[in-house]
Amino acid sequence: MTATAEIYGKLITLEGGEGAGKSTQAKLLAKWLEDKGIAVALTREPGGAPGAEEIRNLLVTGAVGRWDPLTETMLHYAARREHMARFILPALEAGQWVICDRFIDSTLAYQGYGLGVDLETISKLRETILGAFTPGLTLILDVSPEVRRARTAARPGSEDRYERMTEAFHDRVRAGFHAIAAAETGRCVVIKADQTVEEVSAAIRQATNRVLT
Ligand code: TMP
Repeated sequence: MTATAEIYGKLITLEGGEGAGKSTQAKLLAKWLEDKGIAVALTREPGGAPGAEEIRNLLVTGAVGRWDPLTETMLHYAARREHMARFILPALEAGQWVICDRFIDSTLAYQGYGLGVDLETISKLRETILGAFTPGLTLILDVSPEVRRARTAARPGSEDRYERMTEAFHDRVRAGFHAIAAAETGRCVVIKADQTVEEVSAAIRQATNRVLT
């Protein structure tokens, strides 16, 4: 999979733990860019392509411990490869900006920091599968454990395998996102997502303006 930095700089990813409001914010960001006349493709992981959506179902439903952690990591990367090949790269090559609700940092935070899969192993997998491909901007939406609990308790649905994992797991995921942001300050911006939808959206627009030039 080859793509130049110029092309993949147009990939914006939204990341964060449960209940951070990423999906709402991804839609608002897409609308804001479209209103500026920018062509946008909005997508999500795990999923975003037919085969990847099938793998998503294996990952987000069922018993908490249904996968060995490394198997789970590889399933996320299998879905990601499919998503990249069939959706993200074609969209970028057609000149669109791509907004993706979760991407590589979720695997590092959830399977690495959360489930204890060796971080170096995940980095190697990433390099093997995606090469040098890196998002141009990553917005990490951060919420306190209290807000996370309140928002996920109010959320219905069967795709709750990760939500049913322990509080300690979700605390490690949050710490993982902070570590990722600290290690890659050029790419990642942490957004305080305990605020209102409009306040979070304004902070996202401000951060995105920096990559629009
Ligand atoms: P979503 O609820 O944001 O659609 O994401 C589904 C779940 O998948 C979410 O709980 C986080 C989890 N996930 C991982 O554990 N690793 C990954 O690489 C990705 C993309 C998602």
